[in-house]
Amino acid sequence: MYKALRPLLFHLDPESAHDRAMALLEWTARHPGALRLVRAACALDDERLQTRAFGLRFPNPIGLAAGFDKNAVAVPTWAALGFGFVEVGSVTAHAQPGNPKPRLFRLPEDAALVNRMGFNNAGAAAVAARLAALRASGAIQVPLGVNLGKSRVTPLDDAPGDYVQSLGALWPHADYFAVNVSSPNTPGLRALQEAARLDELLGAVTAFAAAQPVQKPILLKLAPDLSEAELAEAAERAARYGLAGLIATNTTVSREGLRTPLDEAGGLSGKPLRARSLAVLRFLQGLGTGLPLVSVGGVASVDDVYERLAAGASLVQLYTGLVYEGPLLLKRLHRGLLRRLEHEGLASVEELARRHAPPPGF
Ligand SMILES: Cc1cc2nc3c(=O)[nH]c(=O)nc-3n(C[C@H](O)[C@H](O)[C@H](O)COP(=O)(O)O)c2cc1C
Repeated sequence: MYKALRPLLFHLDPESAHDRAMALLEWTARHPGALRLVRAACALDDERLQTRAFGLRFPNPIGLAAGFDKNAVAVPTWAALGFGFVEVGSVTAHAQPGNPKPRLFRLPEDAALVNRMGFNNAGAAAVAARLAALRASGAIQVPLGVNLGKSRVTPLDDAPGDYVQSLGALWPHADYFAVNVSSPNTPGLRALQEAARLDELLGAVTAFAAAQPVQKPILLKLAPDLSEAELAEAAERAARYGLAGLIATNTTVSREGLRTPLDEAGGLSGKPLRARSLAVLRFLQGLGTGLPLVSVGGVASVDDVYERLAAGASLVQLYTGLVYEGPLLLKRLHRGLLRRLEHEGLASVEELARRHAPPPGF
């Protein structure tokens, strides 16, 4: 069905297609009857898919990656589509329009996207108000993460205060937070992954968290373009500051192996990112920090999901796969994952996670 609709959607320029899809997802979120229909068509609930990570329970291990629903306008619809958790954002302290258009490009032959959106979002206060209303109406039924970025107007040296301002507005409303220091489209942002700046940022963020009456997991989202030494340094810092986990990876600035010639700046996502994202996961797992890992980048098939979980990911996320595979993707992934677990003689996702957990003290 989506295969038939996709050419129509792909006929539109990528951001118009995205906006129309978002309008439909948002409309669905506000109509209980439509949500029920979507759930009946797309979701597959099975307790063997349930899992736990950083103190939260997930109905299944596949989440929506940050960037699709920047302003949290369609949270109930994502759950009805079968996502086991939803990460909204990136949200910045100040509302901002993002980069000039065009800023999103499709590479169909590569099953990839290039984007330089630049954190277009309504700002922390507006997203907090929306999430508060959703919580009050009981509409959030899966763990909800809020991904935080730096406002463009804020100089890099003042970045810690910018993230803390966002945390201040959003703290009561999320189940976890992702500190995004890895998007390639905000000038200087990725420099926050460097040792001294990361110390300052994580110091400020964790000091804020420690002063709150309720603790929440905070994760750090990393770029795939870091060297092994840089990845190790960032991961060890995250562990030292008591973060709850790592999300790997964001989009890449590399253009290696692309079939489609494209001379546009921005971050590349989808299939061409798959191998690098998996390699980063394996490297981070091998460090033995014990931090839970959320793997994202090029996940679009059952094999991808299984491979990430077997490589030690507690959870996976996807974005570009949904654009190319459509709304029945989650059901296919869940069905396939259950079949794969049975084939491997595993009772559940949790058993798979236990089998691949590093031995204590590793
Ligand atoms: C159009 C677009 C916008 C994105 N915006 C964000 C963002 O605001 N914050 C963020 O942390 N990641 C953002 N991402 C990155 C995704 O969350 C994800 O890390 C990346 O796309 C790799 O996953 P995928 O191959 O499944 O798409 C964006 C990706 C795309 C394609």
